[in-house]
Amino acid sequence: VDAPVAGTKRVLLAAPRGYCAGVDRAVIAVEKALENFGAPVYVRKQIVHNVHVVSTLEQRGAIFVDDVAEVPHGAHVVFSAHGVSPAVVQGAADRGLQAIDATCPLVTKVHREATRFSKQGLDILLIGHTGHEEVEGTMGHAPERTTLVTSPDDVAGLEVRDPDNLVWISQTTLSVDETMETVRRLRERFPNLQDPPSDDICYATQNRQVAIKKVAPAADLVIVVGSANSSNSVRLVEVALEHGARAAYRVDYASEIQQSWLDGVATVGVTSGASVPEVLVREVLDDLADAGYRDVEEVKTAEEDLMFSLPKELRRDAAGNT
Ligand code: F3S
Repeated sequence: VDAPVAGTKRVLLAAPRGYCAGVDRAVIAVEKALENFGAPVYVRKQIVHNVHVVSTLEQRGAIFVDDVAEVPHGAHVVFSAHGVSPAVVQGAADRGLQAIDATCPLVTKVHREATRFSKQGLDILLIGHTGHEEVEGTMGHAPERTTLVTSPDDVAGLEVRDPDNLVWISQTTLSVDETMETVRRLRERFPNLQDPPSDDICYATQNRQVAIKKVAPAADLVIVVGSANSSNSVRLVEVALEHGARAAYRVDYASEIQQSWLDGVATVGVTSGASVPEVLVREVLDDLADAGYRDVEEVKTAEEDLMFSLPKELRRDAAGNT
């Protein structure tokens, strides 16, 4: 990225940013369910980790619950993009709920790995964050065999049954660099550790990190649009700081940008997490323009054209077969 012309204010807009294919599919799934079945449609947990998306869907008739036990018998319930454990699927079936599974296919892929490794008799080291819904769903596929590893520093204290019978997998929205460091330390301790067949950190997480790494060294300030519980958004703040941004903040809305953040700032980097609608980024750009940052340069490091088909329960319905 070129240096700015002296005295000018500019924005470097990272690309890719914002919606990934899994989020797009999950949000459309709720919209379609509302259209096909009418309000209310229940959604277990936040469909995606973004306050704006959740409140917009709430206004249209979605009801977000923490537990399928809160859903009336026989009603429709959408499982969020982060995925669920088999126990949740069973709980919904026991209540006679009409489940629509909006789990991202790239999370389902990790679930399948967990199930397969556990059937093969391997113990699983799952790299991820305590309490994150995706981690709970993935652990639920092999509860007896999975141990959570939350950071590189966690590795030294791990207790395992058999150090020669281990495989690692991960949450999809982690920092690529930190995860590789965790794996390096795991392998140091457990030389016979097996690898999953492919990366579990998804393409969208990786692409957004690569883009902000290119922007960060030239940025006096990086603004990441995304919610506090959005793992991939929070990682973007960390990655920006690790790669040379002088400051980096996460905001849900443009109105959260503080005037003091812009003091002495020539170049502002802007990006957004995988669950963030572009309209929220536009509002940030509008506010920055009002503050004199009118020159916007997009820094693009990848093209994305992945799309997933809708959950099968909605595809059937679109064909008029239910
Ligand atoms: Fe799926 Fe990655 Fe998005 S796992 S929901 S494509 S952030």
